[in-house]
Amino acid sequence: MNILLTGGTGYIGSLTCVGLIEAGEHPVILDNLGNSKPAVLERIAAVTGVRPAFVEGDVRDRACLDELLARHRIDAAIHFAGLKAVGESVRLPLPYYDNNVHGAQVLASALHAAGVRTIVFSSSATVYGDAKTMPISEQAPTQATNPYGRTKLMVEQMLEDLAAAEPDWSVTLLRYFNPVGGHPSGLLGEDPQGIPNNLMPYIAQVAVGRRERLTIFGDDYPTPDGTGVRDYIHVLDLADGHVAALRHRCGRAGVRVFNLGTGRGHSVLEVLRAFEAASGRRVPYVVAPRRAGDVASCWADPARAERELGWRAQRSIEQMCRDTWSWQLANPTGYPS
Ligand code: NAD
Ligand code: UFG
Repeated sequence: MNILLTGGTGYIGSLTCVGLIEAGEHPVILDNLGNSKPAVLERIAAVTGVRPAFVEGDVRDRACLDELLARHRIDAAIHFAGLKAVGESVRLPLPYYDNNVHGAQVLASALHAAGVRTIVFSSSATVYGDAKTMPISEQAPTQATNPYGRTKLMVEQMLEDLAAAEPDWSVTLLRYFNPVGGHPSGLLGEDPQGIPNNLMPYIAQVAVGRRERLTIFGDDYPTPDGTGVRDYIHVLDLADGHVAALRHRCGRAGVRVFNLGTGRGHSVLEVLRAFEAASGRRVPYVVAPRRAGDVASCWADPARAERELGWRAQRSIEQMCRDTWSWQLANPTGYPS
């Protein structure tokens, strides 16, 4: 199949691209390079032996999409492109609604016009808000607590409305938990611009000497060691989840929502210790007050994905740390410009 990957040079998109190529599919990437570098394409080629088709362009640019869709016979799209920083979305909501909501609307319209009826959307566990019970199943109530989360919910709803109006659409909503790690070769990984917002890249930058110490946001949560608990999932497992979702959902009409997580939570301190063991480096830290908007715990019930897609996360927290470290060590300042 020819698969359009919007945001395909980004962190999750690039590793999913590798997974798709290894599964014998033909990805076509559309990315505006707003948060990724062209060097990613060479790295994908180095890992797989295949340089994926690439169009530099914006998902909100209808003419660009129409031209891409006319040139490549696209069977399905995976929509990764978007902005993803929760704090930034609070300060700058309009670019989030524009990129994420308007972007998805333009994409769906262009796919529709081109006769493509299969879309997989990168959603997030953030749509569960402060869930009352763990693990979180797909039936849990949704509730966004910030503009980023609201854009994810809006796009989910828009695609649900589309599938309700036009029953030949196949819409798959994948709610990712906390993706971490990189390719074991060290060639592909997460390359945050500026100070990382997320735990794993922050720890990795402390371990490699780019930052002095980790700040742990709160050690007074109602969790076993007081620090926040999350469902970290290896990005390669996430990539496999996309391949499984495409294989299973292509041609099956209607909307299906899947959690992509491991079903296991790890605390901040557990991740820090696992990273120290994997890297052989000490990771100094200080404890600070809780970060606004954080929940105490969040982990998935991934049973539906296993039952329906035949997919299950395989990789351990040790491997997540090992592969993050390989990437960080080989690319201390990220991808070359
Ligand atoms: P990323 O920033 O690494 O990748 C996103 C890519 O989209 C980038 O390459 C960027 O240049 C591109 N892009 C952004 N806006 C665009 C536009 N208007 N047109 C074309 N390209 C555009 O992010 P990621 O971590 O790979 O996340 C991918 C998707 O998964 C996002 O939609 C994100 O919200 C979602 N998600 C990520 C996480 C996470 O923790 N990383 C968790 C849940 C959901
Ligand atoms: N944390 C620290 N110090 C840091 C960074 C994080 O202590 O420097 C803690 C947080 O307080 C939290 C845990 O580490 O307890 C994980 O935090 P992340 O920022 O890595 O991840 P979040 O669960 O807060 O959020 C991530 C994405 C969101 C997404 C959500 C669910 O950033 O966009 O996962 O998918 F919505």
